[in-house]
Amino acid sequence: MTLIDGKKTATDIKKNIAEEVRQMVAEGNRAPHLVAILVGHDGGSETYVANKVKACEECGFKSTLIRFEDDVTEERLLEEIHRLNEDDTVDGFIVQLPLPRHINEELITQAIDPSKDVDGFHPVNVGRMSIGLDCFLPATPAGIMELLKYYDIPTKGKHAVVLGRSNIVGKPMAALLMQKSNPGNCTVTVCHSATPNIKEICREADIIVAALGQPGFVTADMVKPGATIIDVGTTRVPDATRARGWRLRGDVDFDNVAELCEYITPVPGGVGPMTICSLMINTLKARKQNPYKS
Ligand code: GUN
Repeated sequence: MTLIDGKKTATDIKKNIAEEVRQMVAEGNRAPHLVAILVGHDGGSETYVANKVKACEECGFKSTLIRFEDDVTEERLLEEIHRLNEDDTVDGFIVQLPLPRHINEELITQAIDPSKDVDGFHPVNVGRMSIGLDCFLPATPAGIMELLKYYDIPTKGKHAVVLGRSNIVGKPMAALLMQKSNPGNCTVTVCHSATPNIKEICREADIIVAALGQPGFVTADMVKPGATIIDVGTTRVPDATRARGWRLRGDVDFDNVAELCEYITPVPGGVGPMTICSLMINTLKARKQNPYKS
């Protein structure tokens, strides 16, 4: 069994990005600039955004955090997005999700200029991805593809089972695994809450990507010996032994599944660090494509 070290992989990739940015700046160009919009004070979102800002520092990017309170209006948020769309010194920006219920996430996502949509959530980027055109890929599935590449895990002709059909992970993950590329070329099955025989389908899988948000869902009896298991779950579960009172738990019953696998990602330290790394890759790409150079 090989433990896939997302933290180390992400550190290596961020080092390469930092070196490229150093050269860019030495040649008189502006460093990439990422803006994050955070609405409210959700614990998970606070942590994600803080980690994104930290990753920007590691890569030599400029970052700006724009905060709004929970009661911000949709109009005010849209106004800020329009301002960022027009600001030539901003290469890419994200609006951290989830948003308060009174704000329409679709409307917000679609207001972002696709050329600055480093989350890859705008329908233009989603559509371009699905037909294999150049685009910003959504961070989590792109990070998983980087891990498969980094560890040289065979994917061609393999049966990949994706658990979960979210717009952010499940659907784009299936699209990337089936595309004609390396990694890729998988036969893909997507399972979700209405799939009756998930256990049987998982047992046929060479690769399982678990993105359901149900801690410990994938048990040993669902895993074919020699499979590759990618765990996207990051649910906070109570843990009295930790000062903060909780720990992260993945969608896979790691302790019992790991010994069966050829490759497996831990939680934390697997997919999570790669997600932020993909955002850095997208922001560097946005910077290179931004015609406003200095
Ligand atoms: N919430 C959970 N994951 C993400 C992400 O990748 N981007 C944004 N903007 N919000 C998220």
